[in-house]
Amino acid sequence: MQFGYFDDERREYVITRPDTPLPWINYLGCEEYFGIISQTAGGYSFFRDARLRRLTRYRYNNAPLDLGGRYLYLRDDRSGQTWSPSWMPARSALSEFTCRHGLGYTSIASTFDNIHVETTYFVPLGETLEIWRCRVTNQRPKPADLSLFSSIEFCLWDAWDDATNFQRNFSTGEVEIKDGVIYHKTEYRERRNHFAYFACSAPIEGFDTQREAFLGAYRGWDAPLAVERGSLSNSVAHGWQPIGAHHVRLSLAPSETREVIFVLGYHENPKDQKFDPPDSQTLNKRTVKPVIARYLDSHQVQQALDDLRAYWDGLLRIQHARTPNLHVDRMVNIWNPYQCMATFNISRSASLYESGIGRGLGFRDSNQDLLGFVHMVPERARQRILDLAATQLPSGGAYHQYQPLTKRGNNDIGSNFNDDPHWLILAVAAYIKETGDWSILDEAVPYDNLPGSETPLYEHLQRAVQYTLDRLGPHGLPLIGRADWNDCLNLNCFSDTPGQSFQTTTNKDGKVAESIFIAGLFVLSTQELAALAERTGRLEDAARYRAESARMRELIYQYGWDGEWFLRAYDDFGNKVGSQECQEGKIFIEPQGFCVLAGVGLENGYAQRALDSVARWLATPHGIVLQQPAYSRYYLHLGEISSYPPGYKENAGIFCHNNPWVMIAETRVGNGARAMEYYLRINPSNREAISEVHRCEPYVYAQMIAGKDAPTHGEAKNSWLTGTAAWNYVAITQWILGVRPELDGLRIDPCIPPEWEGFTFRRIFRGAEYVIEVRNPRHVSKGVTAVRVDGKVWQGNLLPILPPGVHTIEVELG
Ligand code: BGC
Ligand code: NOJ
Repeated sequence: MQFGYFDDERREYVITRPDTPLPWINYLGCEEYFGIISQTAGGYSFFRDARLRRLTRYRYNNAPLDLGGRYLYLRDDRSGQTWSPSWMPARSALSEFTCRHGLGYTSIASTFDNIHVETTYFVPLGETLEIWRCRVTNQRPKPADLSLFSSIEFCLWDAWDDATNFQRNFSTGEVEIKDGVIYHKTEYRERRNHFAYFACSAPIEGFDTQREAFLGAYRGWDAPLAVERGSLSNSVAHGWQPIGAHHVRLSLAPSETREVIFVLGYHENPKDQKFDPPDSQTLNKRTVKPVIARYLDSHQVQQALDDLRAYWDGLLRIQHARTPNLHVDRMVNIWNPYQCMATFNISRSASLYESGIGRGLGFRDSNQDLLGFVHMVPERARQRILDLAATQLPSGGAYHQYQPLTKRGNNDIGSNFNDDPHWLILAVAAYIKETGDWSILDEAVPYDNLPGSETPLYEHLQRAVQYTLDRLGPHGLPLIGRADWNDCLNLNCFSDTPGQSFQTTTNKDGKVAESIFIAGLFVLSTQELAALAERTGRLEDAARYRAESARMRELIYQYGWDGEWFLRAYDDFGNKVGSQECQEGKIFIEPQGFCVLAGVGLENGYAQRALDSVARWLATPHGIVLQQPAYSRYYLHLGEISSYPPGYKENAGIFCHNNPWVMIAETRVGNGARAMEYYLRINPSNREAISEVHRCEPYVYAQMIAGKDAPTHGEAKNSWLTGTAAWNYVAITQWILGVRPELDGLRIDPCIPPEWEGFTFRRIFRGAEYVIEVRNPRHVSKGVTAVRVDGKVWQGNLLPILPPGVHTIEVELG
């Protein structure tokens, strides 16, 4: 069952009824100002940091789930009828509803009693504001007298404090209203430097800034008293809950359309600006007024929307596929890179499932997110790498998370996730492969942001490797620390309170749990570092890292092989985790995927056997589960993983992030059919037809799909913010379609289903455009037999870095 359809031409998902199984959201903004918006206009906005600079309020896990947003209300001033053109919050009986989620914008259109309203929400490039462009059309045969009301609820900036510290916050709220613009200036008094504003393009009849005045006592957003009454009361908030609401009257002739633009923006005074008492003078009108004026102009708004479209045209042109499979094309060409932009920007901070206050940017998460983003805006990827590296500790380890606003490591959650530092190596390697910008290795970057501690970035990578070499366990395998990629496998974290193991930091000395996953990651990261070392003339380093890589590979064969698959770990007592010897949790996905992806087991058949075991024990029609058999009860020595009921999250859920590791692994052993099969099982577009089962958005990946042990097998959760986005994009573009940037050029090495006749792929790489035509006349999965570059025969499948311009590449498989 579907709740809408893909409009590929316009690059939109069109939702045709408002009551989707879960709120289906989109992101506004792609630089500094962001918002989430659901199909019914729910959501909120923030500047850079969803916790520290929250503009509007949102109450998570509400009933209904998605309440609070960018709500407009209509009132027929003749009949007194009122309605919500976005359906929520009034759940009005609309005769027509569509929500178009596009790239950086959302348009919600509806009809009620022959009044058509279409509102487009977006953030113009380069600005710290959002626009709501509302068009109201009278489709009645007679004139209509209408009132249009806008509404938002301001958050008092720090969303955590806002949600908890009421004894203070009920007395701090301040606003100012000038020329129809509502300024929200709470905190300005205490020498803060920022404020928000909410403006309207039409002359206003009135405004409200105190929530209770607008809603009425004991009322909610579904039926504001002021809307019912048809007038606002020009309330000025002093404390309590500042809001912004405008009232515009519209008298429309039959067929007449009127456009009203609302602008909600954030402003920060320049650093050197003197602070004055908080009166209207300090609201830096000089800077903000022209900006407001510009975006209250219809032509400017249209121009900004066109610019946004052109921006995405440019980003999506960099990599484009035409294959026999619609779901591949749609995800590769539109939605997957779009989701990669969101994960790069938002990390795991703000979605419908991430409250915006819990986490900043994760070290491992952001490094992995970068893999799917680096080709789009490499300069931003470069800066991100340097920011991340600056939170690395002198030991080579890393803060697990940092706050994007301050860029400082966050100590709440500690730093001994022993896989963390290695992802930095993968990110830097990906950046250099994409750009050829070797200078990044020489950038001076501090440790823990301490001035004076700077070393070249290259040394950060060396210390990342050293971090593991300094932390090897009884078998010589890497110690797992607090946890590795699987946050919930807490082999060293003891706690007497079930479910609390993740939170404890009471690692006793002499912890010995070891991770075969980190071992696989180490094999890969040391190979990558060796390649970087070699090409920058550090030959001894290169030899040393290659030797370390080879040594670790041997240790995996010796102590990390269980007979039919790779072991997962050794626990703190030296017992195996993820072994035939275990009662539950006999086989885990992560080491199968990652070891083979790193090339481990290719030469001795282990890789093929491990992948056959995955197919046999872990694969389901909805994706590959994390482990089997699921843990049936809580185990203190395993931690959070066993705190989930079977089939959910890390306890045998389909944790989509690691499915593409298996897809890549399958391409390494040449099994294109299986790689594609796994790819399609979790491809959201391919799951659109079962939206009532999947329940999350059909245009983006979710973190999890309930596994076969769960009563709700196939149900997705935690959409949008997941490493799944980057890894699936890498898996499909670089390994299945096989167009892969390398240090010395562009590798063409597809591994596709044998029935495919071929496909085409356009790739802009280091300034040249490669138009690649792959033909598969002998119906194989893998193996390039002939290559022509601009008509001339080329030896091998590593394309050179070509001069600027368009180049035709013909590739034959066989
Ligand atoms: C979640 C994990 C997540 C971790 C990150 C845990 O509570 O269950 O999925 O990786 O938190 O902080
Ligand atoms: C989500 C976290 O953000 C990520 O860092 C982790 O690897 C996975 N969960 C698996 O636990």
